Amino acid sequence: MRIDIITCLPKLLDSFFAHSILQRAQQGGYVELIVHDLRDFTLDKHRRVDDYAFGGGAGMVMQIEPIARCIRSLQAERTYDEIIYMTPDGERLNQKTTNLLSLRQNLIILCGHYKGVDERVRELFITKEISIGDYVLSGGELAACVLSDAIIRLLPGVLNDETSALTDSFQDNLLAPPVYTRPAEYEGHRVPDILLSGHEAKIDDWRYEQAMARTKARRPDLLEP
Ligand code: ADE
Repeated sequence: MRIDIITCLPKLLDSFFAHSILQRAQQGGYVELIVHDLRDFTLDKHRRVDDYAFGGGAGMVMQIEPIARCIRSLQAERTYDEIIYMTPDGERLNQKTTNLLSLRQNLIILCGHYKGVDERVRELFITKEISIGDYVLSGGELAACVLSDAIIRLLPGVLNDETSALTDSFQDNLLAPPVYTRPAEYEGHRVPDILLSGHEAKIDDWRYEQAMARTKARRPDLLEP
């Protein structure tokens, strides 16, 4: 899989992608993550990529020309399955969307800034608009990191334990059950006996019951049809 991210703050993303699972996923050849500095695609001598909003009002708007130039240069090399714009007014990200996107070959993610992008970018280029929640960030970069991370950890081989992404919260619309590790007792608080019993089938049943109870208590909306 290949993910191209377009941003005016490339350093912010470079540092996130240079660590932990995302770094391993790139080194292992599971994903190619390429960050593009939008300022490299402006013809402005001050490398500006934004301008005042027509009609007035506070806040700058990202211009279409540098974004169009960047996207078209990428499209000249390969076909993209989706061109995603990170924006608080997009569809709210969930595990289903993440699963579907993890099956794609080539994605572009555009990070918004300031008051957002000129509406014509959305009309002409964007195929999917994604929000990571009902709050406004100062830019789409953190949202792009969240989306990329959620996708990449699903790619077969990226996680050490192949089954571990399948048992995450939200796969099956259930929250994950509680987990424990050593010591078996901490200041009088014991790990549930069943987990120490060695009975695999009974442990599976217990985990399912716990996941169901936790989902009913915390996120009953996930159980609605
Ligand atoms: N950009 C700013 N806020 C955002 C959000 N909540 N989701 C996605 N992109 C954003």
